[in-house]
Amino acid sequence: MTTTLPANDVTAVTESVRQRYSAAAEAPEALLCCPVDYDPQYLKILPDEILEKDYGCGDPSAFARPGDTVLDLGSGGGKICYITSQIVGAEGRVIGVDMNDDMLDLARRHQGDLARTIGYDNVEFRKGRIQDLGLDRGALETWLQSNPVSDPASLERYEAQVAAMRRETPLVGDDAVDLVLSNCVLNLVSDTEKKQLFEEIFRVLRRGGRAAISDIVADEPVPDHMKSDPELWSGCISGAMEEEEFLQAFVDAGFYGVEMVKRDETPWRTVEGIEFRSVTITAWKGKQGECWDHNEAVIYRGPFRETRDDDGHLYRRGERVAVCRKTFEILTREPYAQYFEAIEPREPVEEPTPFDCAGLQTRHARQSKGLEYDATTEVSCGPDGCC
Ligand SMILES: C[S@@+](CC[C@H](N)C(=O)[O-])C[C@H]1O[C@@H](n2cnc3c(N)ncnc32)[C@H](O)[C@@H]1O
Repeated sequence: MTTTLPANDVTAVTESVRQRYSAAAEAPEALLCCPVDYDPQYLKILPDEILEKDYGCGDPSAFARPGDTVLDLGSGGGKICYITSQIVGAEGRVIGVDMNDDMLDLARRHQGDLARTIGYDNVEFRKGRIQDLGLDRGALETWLQSNPVSDPASLERYEAQVAAMRRETPLVGDDAVDLVLSNCVLNLVSDTEKKQLFEEIFRVLRRGGRAAISDIVADEPVPDHMKSDPELWSGCISGAMEEEEFLQAFVDAGFYGVEMVKRDETPWRTVEGIEFRSVTITAWKGKQGECWDHNEAVIYRGPFRETRDDDGHLYRRGERVAVCRKTFEILTREPYAQYFEAIEPREPVEEPTPFDCAGLQTRHARQSKGLEYDATTEVSCGPDGCC
């Protein structure tokens, strides 16, 4: 292993991470471990070899639901995949991606036995780099064995093969999964490839899909001399993003509802006074697209006097704000639903018109009820009534 790492040298970062995790697949490495409380009911069936080689820092599997198709980035020994397999059930699927052959071997070694114990086989492990989920590296390596690159002509054939594989048989296609998970891996991707990594997470999720990511973040910028240290890189330190930068990366990739759902108070490690701790972030895909007016509105319940979404729209507590169908659907589902009242029009709109989402406006109660509405009712004493 090199003694210093040129900061942001993609090849050097990849190599230092590969060597470290190959060794960690052979024998447990205490320095890479971070205590996590997984739901014990899902651990009972896992072999010791997988439990001992747990290099996660959180439990994103808790965000999986029955029937989900789930992608686990940097699946390591397969623990999160096998936990998630039990949560999503026979109707769901789990795909683990890792670039390390030794980790993939470890995860696959137990697949048959675990499928028999669980009662179904809904897990698969694929070889690839998580910042480039379009390329199936396992398939490419197999192709290279019979098509080695040795001259300009074979180089051209190789490049054409890579392009064809990306187009026709991507490792993970567009809009392919309901949920992207990752446990302590994003920090291992070089800084220059981090933007692409978040864009890849966004690309593979279907509209309405979500990401749940546990990772290590720093409370201050990591200085260059620490970024040049291969031990610190592969040890989940050098590539840790700052807390705010980490959240913003999801927003920049196009996600909405980005939330820090867990932040460990106690740092996992402190290096030169910089605290490195585990956080778990959830984020949603689906705010892109056209805005149509269906005469719908929302009321922000509080507790703050006002709040803004990532696109700058302002919601004042108690105010009826006119929203397009897309925003209405977003604000009345997870993760926003608990903060908003949904106001639907008394009569559905048959011919919706384009809605200008640039500046939100209030919507008078009369607009929702209809100008002609003049009902007078008795006191309501039904199950939802107030007496
Ligand atoms: C800290 S371990 C976490 C493993 C697993 N998620 C867990 O909870 O035990 C990091 C894993 O990510 C893999 N990895 C690191 N960088 C990667 C990359 N760019 N693409 C794919 N896998 C990567 C490593 O090979 C290793 O298996």
